[in-house]
Amino acid sequence: MVLYTRRISMTMKVWSELSVHRDSVDNNANTPFEFTEANMMRIAALIQNYPVGAQKAAVGACLDIVQRQMGWIPISAMHKVAEILSMPRMRVYEWVSFYTMNKRHFRGQFHIQVCTTTPCMLRGAEEILDAVEQSCCCCAGGLSADGMFGVDIVECQGACVNAPMFVVNDDYYEDVDASDVYNIIQTLRCGGIPPPGPQNGRFAAEPLCGLTSLCGPPPPPGHGLQDALMGMPTCPGSGR
Ligand code: FES
Repeated sequence: MVLYTRRISMTMKVWSELSVHRDSVDNNANTPFEFTEANMMRIAALIQNYPVGAQKAAVGACLDIVQRQMGWIPISAMHKVAEILSMPRMRVYEWVSFYTMNKRHFRGQFHIQVCTTTPCMLRGAEEILDAVEQSCCCCAGGLSADGMFGVDIVECQGACVNAPMFVVNDDYYEDVDASDVYNIIQTLRCGGIPPPGPQNGRFAAEPLCGLTSLCGPPPPPGHGLQDALMGMPTCPGSGR
């Protein structure tokens, strides 16, 4: 119940932050932003993927580049993208405010997103969230004092078969328990990169106890047919 209430309030906070822009000292139309030279070359290459006049189709990729360069998307960067792609600023605002993976604020060097949707919740998401908050020294929705970690509660990340899980930047950490969380966060804090994926020894989503089906070569054609149906002609009227 506590987690459910927190999810509701987080969801409302995220949606209001996503859909409403209010000028601040750090985020206004005059916030300095320029793409790096390497990123400008990436954008030029991306635009080439689309027919002449349809360069605005690269808007999502351009905003992803902004986010990888800055760690988030200031409104001045949205304006820059609109200018490069010759599209109305409003269309860029619409894109940014629709997709929740667009970060409208700095969310830390490591943005930690804990899934709390039903399969993860049933598998202990509440305990995982507590462990993340404790080891990052910040509450969900907040940023650690050193700016290293930002923690958010998110909806299903599409890895339910490996629940519970959480995401660090682009990496999924799956089949986790509280001690895995402490180890992963500690490794990040020390400058290491913990191996992503299942943390309980699974390679992917196979049963932890070993294969329970498809254990041998597949049976040949005709497997399981009644005896009376064996040897039926393969072509009508051929007698064969
Ligand atoms: S419910 Fe957590 S990944 Fe789907």
